[in-house]
Amino acid sequence: MNQKEVTPKNIVLIGFMGSGKSTVGRELHQRLGYSLTDMDHLIEETMGKKITEIFKEEGEKAFRDFETLQLIEIAKQTDTRHIISTGGGIVIRPENRSLLRKLGYVVWLDAPEEIIFERTSRNRDRPLLNKKNARQRITELLAEREPWYRETAHLKVDTKGLDSGEIAAGILESARYFFTQPA
Ligand code: S3P
Repeated sequence: MNQKEVTPKNIVLIGFMGSGKSTVGRELHQRLGYSLTDMDHLIEETMGKKITEIFKEEGEKAFRDFETLQLIEIAKQTDTRHIISTGGGIVIRPENRSLLRKLGYVVWLDAPEEIIFERTSRNRDRPLLNKKNARQRITELLAEREPWYRETAHLKVDTKGLDSGEIAAGILESARYFFTQPA
């Protein structure tokens, strides 16, 4: 992971669909009392539509443009002591990756492929995986995105075998260390 560049006390969660970002985000929010922004929820609220509808009616590019706009807004408004949980594709765009790192301590939640498949096949909320070959799509997208998660994150957490409380405790310990180091 790259060198630290900024010190605002925000924790930014990145990782593939089904890696547990929303659940861990809520856990961190409860433990720290920092406000919680779930970017997917914010996009749905602002656009007044579910993500599946946005993809269907306006296409992926429109969703990605909106996602970047939201991130720019969040970066402008967010000072310190926030948890930001992102959508799995936020790392696709280079400008997003650099904004995320400026926003705070970026934590990549990594989960085994079979767990991702099991979790994401429980519902049809993820347009990129609402296909017959979902398993194959996961393999491809993971291979494509992994270098971007690695490049963006200050910390990678291997979540295998850990519950959300254990994951949050680990993040807090390393975040505490990170935030107390000189830039
Ligand atoms: C996406 C992940 C989703 C959501 C959208 C696109 C992706 O968020 O933003 O369906 O490209 O990986 P989650 O990671 O919260 O499922």
